[in-house]
Amino acid sequence: MKCLAVFIFFRLLILIFIIEFSFAADSLSSGKFITDGETLVSSFQSFELGFFSPGNSKNRYLGIWYKSSPRTLVWVANRNNPITEKNGVLTFSNNGSLLLLNQEKSAIWSSNSSRMLENPVAQLLDSGNLVLRDNISRSSEEYMWQSFDYPSDTLLPGMKLGWNLKTGFERYLTPWRSADDPTPGEFSLRLDISALPELVIISGSRKETRSGPWNGQQFGGIPRVKNSIFIPKLEHTEDELYFTFRPFNDEVITRLLVNESGTLQRLVWNETSTEWRMLYSWPFDTCDSYAQCGANDNCRISKTPICECLTGFISKSQDDWDSPETRRCVRKPSDCPSGEGFLKLPKMKLPENYWSNKSMNLKECEAECTKNCSCRAYANSDVTGEGSGCLMWFGDLVDLRECSEGYIWGQDFFIRVPASELVSVKHLNTKKRLKIIVAVSIISSTFILGLLLCIAWKKAKNKDRERSKLLPWKKRFSIITGIARGLLYLHQDSKLQVIHRDLKASNILLDINLNPKISDFGLARIFGGDDEEAQTERVAGTHGYMSPEYANDGTISMKSDVFSLGVLLVEIVSGKMNRGFRHPGHRHNLIGHAWLLWNVGRALELMDTCLEDSFVESQVLRCIQVGLLCVQKLPEDRPDMSSVVFLLANDGVALPQPRQPGFFTERGFTGGVLSNHEKCHSENALSVTMQEDQLAQKDKLIKSTIFKHFIVPNYQDDSKNLPGLRRPFVPGSSVAADIMAETGHSKPKL
Ligand SMILES: *[C@@H]1O[C@H](CO)[C@@H](O)[C@H](O)[C@H]1NC(C)=O
Ligand SMILES: *[C@@H]1O[C@H](CO)[C@@H](O)[C@H](O)[C@H]1NC(C)=O
Ligand SMILES: *[C@@H]1O[C@H](CO)[C@@H](O)[C@H](O)[C@H]1NC(C)=O
Ligand SMILES: *[C@@H]1O[C@H](CO)[C@@H](O)[C@H](O)[C@H]1NC(C)=O
Ligand SMILES: *[C@@H]1O[C@H](CO)[C@@H](O)[C@H](O)[C@H]1NC(C)=O
Ligand SMILES: *[C@@H]1O[C@H](CO)[C@@H](O)[C@H](O)[C@H]1NC(C)=O
Ligand SMILES: *[C@@H]1O[C@H](CO)[C@@H](O)[C@H](O)[C@H]1NC(C)=O
Repeated sequence: MKCLAVFIFFRLLILIFIIEFSFAADSLSSGKFITDGETLVSSFQSFELGFFSPGNSKNRYLGIWYKSSPRTLVWVANRNNPITEKNGVLTFSNNGSLLLLNQEKSAIWSSNSSRMLENPVAQLLDSGNLVLRDNISRSSEEYMWQSFDYPSDTLLPGMKLGWNLKTGFERYLTPWRSADDPTPGEFSLRLDISALPELVIISGSRKETRSGPWNGQQFGGIPRVKNSIFIPKLEHTEDELYFTFRPFNDEVITRLLVNESGTLQRLVWNETSTEWRMLYSWPFDTCDSYAQCGANDNCRISKTPICECLTGFISKSQDDWDSPETRRCVRKPSDCPSGEGFLKLPKMKLPENYWSNKSMNLKECEAECTKNCSCRAYANSDVTGEGSGCLMWFGDLVDLRECSEGYIWGQDFFIRVPASELVSVKHLNTKKRLKIIVAVSIISSTFILGLLLCIAWKKAKNKDRERSKLLPWKKRFSIITGIARGLLYLHQDSKLQVIHRDLKASNILLDINLNPKISDFGLARIFGGDDEEAQTERVAGTHGYMSPEYANDGTISMKSDVFSLGVLLVEIVSGKMNRGFRHPGHRHNLIGHAWLLWNVGRALELMDTCLEDSFVESQVLRCIQVGLLCVQKLPEDRPDMSSVVFLLANDGVALPQPRQPGFFTERGFTGGVLSNHEKCHSENALSVTMQEDQLAQKDKLIKSTIFKHFIVPNYQDDSKNLPGLRRPFVPGSSVAADIMAETGHSKPKL
């Protein structure tokens, strides 16, 4: 009995095996057919082809799905034309095409191959591709027809999304209408090749979203994932231009799907949980909706409202919440090209309608864009490596967005803005951010201060007698007026008229009570009688402090000292050095920076932030204005020292508006560009012998640090030991004559 049962069991098993085997073929040859219930299975069991009913529908469709359950459809043959009964048959027509017949033997669907086939074979490949070819050419890849050419809603690895450039044939995705109905929905995902290739989702004839151009690695406006999952690729051959991808390795199963609501989903199969995990979807957020904001409008998803005019543009509409149709951002007026520069916006999806050149690099692109005043923006077309290629925009900037924080996408985008905006960018931050910055600065300055105190304490144990002190505004102002009075004395009040020629921060010493002393008369020159100015053969002085007429022509006058004083005033107020000053927004020196800020009514931002607790606004502004008056380009425009002393001392007195300073664009400014690789200064601006610079180097030990930590040397004790340090001049005293006697106006011996 037991034996019989076992026998029957094995017979059944064999029977089942035979049945399974007979239907589990991967190909269908001429004269054969598949009926509803039978399937083709690819050789490694990846995909299966057969009849199915979607969702709750009773309709029958011929489709391809992943063999692994749950059934996930990747392709449907008769999407528009369902079979109503379970009697469909897939066979070959007389001419060798695949033919789907219903119960009445009428054609529901056919693969229209271009050529008649004598001995056709249809095979389901492990890629999920159903291919039709002649039996003879089995080895060759020449297909008469393939399902990959007619995608449904799914892009599998190896499928092409794009164009045959020779025939104009386009492959694109269309979603199902609903889970019950594979009829093509209103959306389609296409590769737009009217400019650089980009993906678009279209609904009817309306563009729903665009991906931004292919940037050599990906579509700029689609989030990038850590790519150990798939490798995206854009293929451009003579015949074809298409997007495709392949999995990172054989273990990864991934696909792209356009779902019923027209959203592209990147899905990855999780073998453990046996379900599809979504890596990302696109459109990603509201900002991805095509032209969600108006022209020249930046869409920023983290802001409210999300649309904000780009830097350098102002809104023409009344209401920030206006619809994109009524919103309009227009350019702020500015002089082109002198009053303009380029601002770098990082992580941007690039807008539409650009001009492109693959062989230009970013520098050439910038130069080209700078030249043509109707060029509004530029960017690299390929971000691979250092970046290459050039895109330029000439009209309104439409459909751009800032990419969401925390995601890798987008690229650098450079827009033309008025030069004043380059200065202001730093200050565009919201109050909140400002608070954070202030907090961070306080914390970091506390830390640095702590560090300095620690170092100072250590040194003090050994000796840096020298004390370190931050100068509050009141003290700084008294130093400023002290220097001015000292210079006035040299110019007018002393018996001899003295021009210092090398007034600079490191030549101002502070005594124990922080009284300023002008020192180092090594270059000083005595003027006799009514001389207004003199010429010198050898121009000597310090870069950053020399007036243009002195540096260029060797013309010395009291006004060249006034120029140096002006630089010094701005330095003392800002706590920064004129020379070597760096700003991310432009290439001006400190004077140029002050000038830009002054012109936009924000001169106060120049002030050293550590003065925030102690400053007197009117005095600070007065010092800056007097400073700018002193550094005016033309000597005759500059005030003399008696006016300077008077203007500084009398708060109520009206001041003239300063004109353009001299030497504020010393670094070959051509419109100002945000880049970090600037090449210091151009050689043409200053042609000065280097000796004086070396002279200044010698004194660097204590002097150049004045404006860093305001180190106060106790010069009475130290002056003997410090090389290059000469006896200082005390304003109002008669020491000047001594100094003259001691150093003369010859070059000091070093
Ligand atoms: C191809 O044709 C040969 C003979 O014509 C036949 O034996 C073979 O089975 C065919 N192959 C397929 C896959 O139909
Ligand atoms: C193939 O058939 C479809 C309709 O099923 C038709 O729109 C298309 O033009 C045909 N293509 C060729 C190459 O005959
Ligand atoms: C082959 O037959 C199908 C269906 O009968 C038809 O639609 C198609 O145009 C034919 N193709 C050729 C090349 O004759
Ligand atoms: C399509 O995908 C998006 C993003 O995953 C999702 O929010 C939406 O509900 C999906 N639509 C349907 C009909 O499943
Ligand atoms: C796959 O699913 C399992 C179980 O849900 C989960 O623990 C695992 O993290 C998933 N793997 C990936 C790569 O998401
Ligand atoms: C692209 O730029 C290169 C180098 O500047 C130039 O030689 C070429 O003519 C440009 N091509 C086009 C189409 O403008
Ligand atoms: C600036 O570029 C536009 C668009 O390419 C062109 O029509 C115009 O002639 C150019 N202007 C100059 C001055 O080169």
